[in-house]
Amino acid sequence: GKMQTPFDIIGEDKLHQLVDAFYTRVAEHPDLSPIFPKDLEETARKQKQFLTQYLGGPQIYTAEHGHPMLRARHLPFEITPLRARAWVSCMHNAMDEVELTGPLREDFFARLNLTAQHMINTPDKDE
Ligand code: HEM
Repeated sequence: GKMQTPFDIIGEDKLHQLVDAFYTRVAEHPDLSPIFPKDLEETARKQKQFLTQYLGGPQIYTAEHGHPMLRARHLPFEITPLRARAWVSCMHNAMDEVELTGPLREDFFARLNLTAQHMINTPDKDE
């Protein structure tokens, strides 16, 4: 049959747990919470859809929202190097919390880190 995707290996349950653990941290992070909505329910729903397809699962984000155009969708927000580091650190801690380990975690994390750098659209203050 078809090759297993990273999405198949992680599984939907664990991916959803990861996203929920991530946004719990975002909500508590002083550098991130100010640019996110108070209610992160819909944001988390979209991120679950996005990461499903990012990991090779069904294209459910695109089916509902169209092409991700992630950088363009982030332009309304000031994404500084400081905020990118904060995002990546929330994701790192969320991966620890849900015990996502091994080479798959390392690859997934490395890719997210690159994508986060790509989202930067504003210099840090005093730079
Ligand atoms: C949406 C911040 C990196 C995927 C958003 C929103 C903010 C944000 C403020 C809008 C939330 C809302 O209104 O619901 C950031 C910051 C980042 C970052 C500060 C630091 C670099 C990333 C990365 C990814 C990502 C690395 C993917 C791997 C998304 C998705 C959405 C989103 C899928 C929803 C887009 C939509 O409205 O359809 N982000 N983000 N973000 N972000 Fe990020």
